[in-house]
Formats: sequence, C-alpha cells, structure tokens
Amino acid sequence: MNPSRHNVIEAINLTRVFRDFWGRPKVRAVDGIDLSVPSGGIFGLLGPNGSGKSTTMKMILGLLRPTAGTLRVFDRPATDVSIKERIGFMPEESYLYKYLTATEILLFFASLCGIPPSARQEAVDSLITRVGLERARHRRIGEFSKGMARRVGLAQALLNDPDLILLDEPTSGLDPVACREVKDLLLSLSARGKTILICSHHLADMQDICHRVAILLDGRICAHGAVPDLLHDTGRLQLTLTGLPPEKLPGLLQYIEKETGASPVVDHSGRSLESFYVEVVSKRNAAP
Ligand SMILES: Nc1ncnc2c1ncn2[C@@H]1O[C@H](COP(=O)(O)OP(=O)(O)OP(=O)(O)O)[C@@H](O)[C@H]1O
Ligand SMILES: [Mg+2]
Repeated sequence: MNPSRHNVIEAINLTRVFRDFWGRPKVRAVDGIDLSVPSGGIFGLLGPNGSGKSTTMKMILGLLRPTAGTLRVFDRPATDVSIKERIGFMPEESYLYKYLTATEILLFFASLCGIPPSARQEAVDSLITRVGLERARHRRIGEFSKGMARRVGLAQALLNDPDLILLDEPTSGLDPVACREVKDLLLSLSARGKTILICSHHLADMQDICHRVAILLDGRICAHGAVPDLLHDTGRLQLTLTGLPPEKLPGLLQYIEKETGASPVVDHSGRSLESFYVEVVSKRNAAP
C-alpha cells in the first residue's frame, strides 16, 4: 500500500535556503524536514518566531520552491497547478482592498475562484454568517478592527470549499468569543473530512483543536506526533468527580494518600476561563 495516499502533505528532507543579493546562502529557513500531514485532521505547526513555519507553508502552497527535498500535496508536486483549486489559504496578514465592503470583496474573490455568478451571493452570505460578520457585511474593510479583518481572511480561505485549508495564525487578533467560534468552525470542517494545517503561537488554542503537532526550531522539527501521545504523562493523572459531597473530600484524600502514597492535589476550577468568559459575554449579548 502506498502510505502517501493517506497523507495530504508529504515532505521528505524539505529544505529552503534564502540567498543574499550576491546569491550566497544567507538563512536555512527550513532545514531538511520530514513532514506527513494525514487526511482529515487538524495539524499544528508550532515554533518560535523565525523557525520556518510560514516558509514551510509557502512551499506547500507552491509560492516558494524548495532548495532541496521532495514535497507532495494530494500526491502531486506542490507546484502542480491542478491541485490549487482544492486548497484554501489564509496568510499571516490579509491585504484587503479597504474601500470595498466585506460582501463586495468576498464576491470579488468568489469570481476569481470560478464560482458561477448565480451561486456567488449565496456562497458569500453563508460564509459571512459562519465567520460572524453579519452585522458588518456592508461596512468598508478599511473601518474593520484587526479581528474583523481576520474573519474576512478566513472567509476568503474557505470560499472554494477547499479540501486542504492552510491557516497562518488564524486566531491572532480575535477576541475570546470569536476565537472559540473560529475553533468550533475548524473542528466542524475537520469533522467533514477537511484537512487543516495551522501555524500558531497560541498553544492553548492549538491544544484545544489540533490532532497532531510538529514543533519547528531553527528550521528543524524537534518534536512531532499526536497531541495526546505527546502530552501523556504516566506519573500524573487527573480525576474528575462530579457531585462529590464536600464533607467527603478530606476522608477521600486521606484514603488515597494512605493507600497509594500519592499526594492528591485538589483543583476546584472545573472549567476553563475561556468557557466562563464566553458564557458571560453571550449572556450579556442575549440580554434585551
Ligand atoms: N523572503 C525572505 N528572504 C530572506 N529571508 C527570509 C525570507 N522569508 C523568510 N526568511 C527568513 O527565514 C526564516 C524563517 O522565517 P519564517 O517567516 O518562515 O518564520 P516563522 O516561523 O513563520 O516566524 P513567525 O512566527 O515570526 O511568523 C527567518 O530567519 C526569516 O528571516
Ligand atoms: Mg510566520
């Protein structure tokens, strides 16, 4: 069986060297990485500033040519034009024409994607709703906050209903509610079988949604794998008890300590700050 059939992206010894004005090697931005991105999951590419994440993404998009190594996307060379219609991309910064409204710019991109004129308005309306821009759909992009412009960038990346979605810092600049909505949108796309590759510095967001991650450092992969495997710690586990009467807690802790020698730590915060924040803001927004 050909293993690459199950991987949407397959890179072997992928390398990109940037050269200076005289053609001398200046930076090894990506330094011989092997990368397999399986179909239908969310893959996080993590790493410090300048570690080669965006360069890797640009090579996957065929915008930059590798200096060495092989890179196949949908089992074809990354530069093959025929795969482009199956890929959606949201860059680190979207350069959007500021005098157009969100609807107008997305209709423009829809025409570039080859969506038939009769289907464009419906496709754009549905995406505007999915990225939460209904109330701003007729406002000019130039007036948008950073987070609102990010949402337009995301809608544009999804316009052609791509099978592979590449997102460079998708949650940067988003408020917590928008961030949760974007993460839920990405999870629902992945559940529909889409493959998503994300570069990000937001580790909590990545832990929330990524099935697999790779950590890049100086252009090399220094750790990679399925998130539960990477975070598995045999010496430490979390036990969640619902409905425990408070008066039973001291006895239970004593019992655990006596029987096992382990020191239990009690954490009463049963929920994340994100879920608390989202609930407070949603209640407030729903109030008349
Ligand atoms: N066009 C270019 N010309 C020369 N060097 C470049 C170019 N693009 C990127 N680099 C260099 O390649 C290295 C990797 O850059 P890259 O943009 O891939 O990093 P990154 O991991 O995306 O960082 P960040 O988290 O800041 O977005 C850096 O040293 C950068 O200066
Ligand atoms: Mg980058």
